This record gives sequence, structure tokens and C-alpha cells, in this order.
Amino acid sequence: MSEQYQHDVLVIGSGAAGLSLALTLPAHLRVAVLSKGDLANGSTFWAQGGVAAVLDETDTVQSHVEDTLNAGAGLCDEAAVRFTVEHSREAIQWLIDQGVPFTRDEGAEHEQGAFEYHLTREGGHSHRRIIHAADATGAAIFTTLLGQARQRGNIDLLEQRVAVDLITDKRLGQPGDRCLGAYVLNRSTGEVDTFGARFTVLACGGAAKVYLYTSNPDGACGDGIAMAWRAGCRVANLEFNQFHPTCLYHPEAKSFLITEALRGEGALLKLANGERFMQRFDPRAELAPRDIVARAIDHEMKRLGADCVYLDISHKPAEFIKSHFPTVYERCLAYAIDITRQPIPVVPAAHYTCGGVMVDQHGLTDVPGLYAIGETSFTGLHGANRMASNSLLECFVYGRAAAGHISAQLDQVQPPRALPSWDASQVTDSDEDVIIAHNWDELRRFMWDYVGIVRTTKRLQRAQHRVRLLLDEIDEFYSNYKVSRDLIELRNLAQVAELMIQSAMQRKESRGLHYTLDYLDMLPEAVDTILQPPTYGD
Ligand code: FAD
Ligand code: SIN
Repeated sequence: MSEQYQHDVLVIGSGAAGLSLALTLPAHLRVAVLSKGDLANGSTFWAQGGVAAVLDETDTVQSHVEDTLNAGAGLCDEAAVRFTVEHSREAIQWLIDQGVPFTRDEGAEHEQGAFEYHLTREGGHSHRRIIHAADATGAAIFTTLLGQARQRGNIDLLEQRVAVDLITDKRLGQPGDRCLGAYVLNRSTGEVDTFGARFTVLACGGAAKVYLYTSNPDGACGDGIAMAWRAGCRVANLEFNQFHPTCLYHPEAKSFLITEALRGEGALLKLANGERFMQRFDPRAELAPRDIVARAIDHEMKRLGADCVYLDISHKPAEFIKSHFPTVYERCLAYAIDITRQPIPVVPAAHYTCGGVMVDQHGLTDVPGLYAIGETSFTGLHGANRMASNSLLECFVYGRAAAGHISAQLDQVQPPRALPSWDASQVTDSDEDVIIAHNWDELRRFMWDYVGIVRTTKRLQRAQHRVRLLLDEIDEFYSNYKVSRDLIELRNLAQVAELMIQSAMQRKESRGLHYTLDYLDMLPEAVDTILQPPTYGD
């Protein structure tokens, strides 16, 4: 039997964005936070480098804003950038107040008035402004926020719950245009339950799993973007898929990330013969923004027919390396690479979805009652290329802004009511799960080959043709068989891939992360790629 739940706020996602929103809401509200796997399922837990913020006396909001605008290749929304950066100090103070154990700066303890936490540097930043917990910042933040959420009597933390689709007035064929909650697969019972809520928040992370090689955990399937699109929300700038330049190249490492903070602390990129190459591509060399570094590596690998390049920090003292980068050190050692003595073989891998569901400064989407925050959303902060460590910052600033907006709307929205249950009367158990696995693999492979770091119109057309065939097949499967996590994810991945390809085909220039051999120049005017769903405005 499926269940009916009712909450004031339904938060789909238990990462940095979802937890900071849930913890900022007033404690008298009933809040559900869902995760489709265990609660640590998202990217947040794996974040390494840290959170960018203006914290040092010598740094300024203006400098962080300018660096972000530069990294974004002219496409950032300056108001969104300024809003985010202006709230950065307050967001970090909130995390410190929650108990996040950021790494302290031992030297600063003795200096009058100096900031007491260690700040590192990453690509694109002209100052040291990344606060971190060694090289496992995400785990420290996630564990602390989850600990706080567990102590709150008003927050239900629900694992193994996969949101399938949003429930809206339009979906139910009734007057109005509000979001009323979501249908959610309970993986323990196999039933699709109904969650009614006054406010629904998509905090589902990004879609990097659309690519064959990615730094992201398995759940990064663009569920939030696909659900919002189907519910009538506009999406923007989905052609800007960020590839992290340095993931460990090892057959068993599953694209383990080697944090950019290594380069911030002096690591050098080298070819197999020990020669440095980044200075040939950008005067900032290893600390150029990510799009430039990833493209340079891709270029050198293709030029030389090499399987990887190398990241070398072995010139730094071993104790410094071990204390700043314990996670990277241990993980590489497990693959017999001692980073205090040898260079690390690295390759780029899909890392971050810069585009997403269009929202305003409160995280509100086009559908009343529906918010999107964190990597699922498009706030305008990242432009054509996200600057390192601005992502977690966006999660906290917009998560907290959305909580404030929801609190201010409470009086105007009725309590949730009973909603129609999920209709599973027309579907049977699938006996052909092999089709899901095959389509999943095919999709990720052609996205990697045709919609990767370097694109052409011909490759995009090929990808578009393939994804449309897949979408037809998946739709048929979805109409006939019971939903499973794999089927839900495949359906969403294919949907988001189609939107990414469509966006890439619309952009007739090379800008930031979108680089096409058919339009090498950047157009004088920077314009967002905004896609409108067929039902929007009906
Ligand atoms: P996530 O943390 O990805 O959480 C998504 C949540 O949504 C999960 O709980 C998931 O279970 C849930 N979910 C998804 N779909 C559904 C569904 N259908 N039903 C129910 N639940 C669902 N950024 C930085 O700023 N600094 C860094 O140092 C940094 N390092 C990184 C290192 C790695 C290896 C990776 C992968 C990313 C890194 N990033 C970093 C990026 C950053 O970590 C992410 O952008 C950010 O954590 C996203 O947070 P989120 O809350 O939006 O989503
Ligand atoms: C890293 O530590 O290199 C990742 C930082 C980020 O994605 O912002």
C-alpha cells in the first residue's frame, strides 16, 4: 500500500543546499528532507577544496565579484554574483556557528586581528579566499549539518526515497498553477508514495552522470532539472558542463578528484617528459580558470596521443603535503602513488552543471510554491564557467535565502491537503532491465564523445539524433513498466542530455565551457540560452 504524507516544506535532496535550507526554516514547521540513496548520497560529501568567501582583511567583495565575472567569460549575472559574494561572510559564519571544523591557520593565532582559519587558493581567484577542512571540506560540512538536522524534532530525514515527478495543479487538471508536492518511490516497499507540501524545494544536485567519466557520485542524474522541466519551469545555460581538469587516472579509481587546491598550493602540470605546458595556454598557468586548464590538457593529450598528463607537488615538503591533503595522499597511496615523491597521473572528467532551473534571488522557480537551490538551479552566478569553490557558497547563500522567502510566505499558503495517489494500474513488472543498462551506457558514451570538451555542429547533430531515439524508447518503457530508481534516473538523464544538446546547438560561438570548432570566436554580446518547456505559459 502506498502512503500519503503531508509536510509544510518538502525538500528533495539532503546535500549542502537542502540541509542549509531545512536548518534555516523556523523550527515549528514540519519539514521532510529526502535522499534517493543514503543521506550522504550527493556530491556535497565528496567536496574537497572548500568554500570561497571574502574573509581576509586584504580581500574585498569587489575582487571576488571581478574574479567570478572573469571566470564566467562575460555571461554571469552581475547582480547574482554580487548578491552571493556579499552574503559569503555571513554564510561562513553560519557554518562556523553550526560547528563545522574548518582548518585553523596556526600562524594567525599569534597575529592580532588576523583571520583564524587557513585560506587556500584555487584557479581564477586573485586572493587566498577558500576556507576548508583540510581536503575533505564536504564531509566536514555534511556531517556537521546532518548532526544538527538530526537534533531537530521538526525535520524528517528520509533515505532511499526517489522523487519521480512533481504534483502540480496543472498535472491534476485543476485550476491554478501551484506545486503541491511530489510522487516519491520508496525503495524499501517498491511503492510510489504521495508527499503533499505547502512548499516544495528541488535540491537534487547536478547532472554530470550524463557523461561516461565524471568526478560525481552515481546519483548526479539531473533529476531536479528534469522534474522541473516537466512541471513547466524554464531552464538555462545547460550547454555549460564543467570538466574538472584533474581526476586521478587509474583503472580502479573511478575518476577520483585531485583537488584544485593542490595547484593553489604550488602543484605543477607536466607532460610525461616532465615538461610544463600550461604557460603556453594562459599567463596564469596552473591557476587559470578551469575551462582553460581542462581544454589545454585535452589538447596536449590529443596532440601527443597520451592517456593522461601529470600533476606534481613532490617539490613541497612531505609533511606539508600530508597535513594539507591527507585524503588525496591516502587515496593515491592506495594505488601505489606516493604524491610526496611522484607526480600524479590525471585526466579531465565531467564535474559540474553550470546551467539549471531558472530561479530568482529567493530560489523561486516559474511555478509558484516550487523552489530550486544548489547545483540544480540556475541563479546566474556561474556564467559560462563556474569559478572554483563558488558552488558550495551558492548552496548556502540561496538555501538560506529560499528559507527566508518561504518563512515570509507562510501566512498566504493553505496547509497541504490529500492528493490523488500514484496510478500504477496500467503497468507491470519489467522483465527487460537489460534495456535500461544498455541505454544508460549508450547515452553516457555518446555524450562524452559528441558533447564533450571540444564540440562540432556535426557531433551535436549526431548526439541529438541518438538521444531522441533513446527518449522514445524510454517513454515506451516508462508507460508500460513499474518505476525503479534506474528507470527514473535514465529517463531524467536522457531528458537533461536532450536539453544540453539543444542548448549547445543554439550557441553559435565559443565561450567558457562551450567550445566548438565551427564557431571559434566569442560573439560581442553575451546572451543566456533559455529553454521554455512546451507547457510553459499555457
Ligand atoms: P548534492 O550534494 O549533490 O545533493 C543532492 C541530493 O539530492 C542528494 O541527497 C540526493 O540523494 C538527492 N536527490 C537527487 N535526486 C533525487 C530524487 N529524484 N529523489 C530524492 N532525492 C534526490 N564545490 C565547491 O564549492 N567546493 C569544492 O571543494 C567542491 N569539491 C567538489 C568535489 C567533488 C568530488 C565533487 C563531485 C563536487 C565538488 N564541488 C565542490 C561541487 C559541489 O560539491 C556541489 O556542487 C554541491 O555539493 C552540490 O550540492 P547540492 O546540495 O546542490 O547537491
Ligand atoms: C576541487 O577541490 O578542486 C573542487 C573545487 C570545486 O569544484 O569548486
